[in-house]
Amino acid sequence: MQVSSFENCGAIVSGLQLAGMTDSQLTELRAAFNQHGLLFFRDQQLPPDEHLRFARRFGKIVVNKFFKTTIEHAEIAEVRKEKTQQTNIGGGWHTDHSYDDEPALGSILVARTLPKTGGNTHFADLAAAYDALPDILKKRLEGLRAIHSNTHLYGENGLYRLTDLADQLGGMDRVGDAIHPVVIRHPESGRKVLYVNPGHTIQFEGWDFNESRKLLDELYGHVNQPQFTSNFNWLPGSVTFWDNRRTWHMADNDYQGQIRLMHRITLAGAALTAG
Ligand code: SIN
Repeated sequence: MQVSSFENCGAIVSGLQLAGMTDSQLTELRAAFNQHGLLFFRDQQLPPDEHLRFARRFGKIVVNKFFKTTIEHAEIAEVRKEKTQQTNIGGGWHTDHSYDDEPALGSILVARTLPKTGGNTHFADLAAAYDALPDILKKRLEGLRAIHSNTHLYGENGLYRLTDLADQLGGMDRVGDAIHPVVIRHPESGRKVLYVNPGHTIQFEGWDFNESRKLLDELYGHVNQPQFTSNFNWLPGSVTFWDNRRTWHMADNDYQGQIRLMHRITLAGAALTAG
């Protein structure tokens, strides 16, 4: 198995088929995942059963509360955009499930139907971004906690509810918030990670909303720089596996009139501890 850094976030793994990996390959893969926080794979033979098998070998699956799942597999979420739809899922920077008390460990996304061009996914490395913050800002973030929510997206008047994505989503009654440290200690690598994201972080606990927005926007501007990001173009057989505790991601919506269908399995995580 070869693991090579990919642009400025993640690594590409070659010489490995995820289906039928040996136990020692799995151990190597875990180490690469914890080192890079994001792995890309090409030319995989990973039908839904094998996708599930790989996920289960890595951890416990958690089912997304809002996305539809495939008919055959209740643990595989569909990230689908039909030819006739304008809005895509995950079109802005976010971290999956940060609105849960125990945010997801990671997500494994498999390309099923791709547009002829476009539909890339961008990623950002929040451990590298934290390391590069000025010391004065690191000091300011010490001890802070932030509120993460999904109500503004999936609730009654939520952004996704008001678009042509609405009939693809379930469970408005499942909306809710969670509070996490703004700087977390990554449970595997021990690195400090900036744990806020534009999709779900609403404000700092105990802070005025506008003051929160100012600092959040400054942090988002810092993360969204080329030195912390990568841009992955999907091909048939491509798979990505990202650590939700360490990365943001965002899918381009530049293929209007074409279908794009991805299968996503999300792995359960645990409560986060301050860094
Ligand atoms: C997601 O936000 O989980 C989906 C990303 C993608 O479709 O590329």
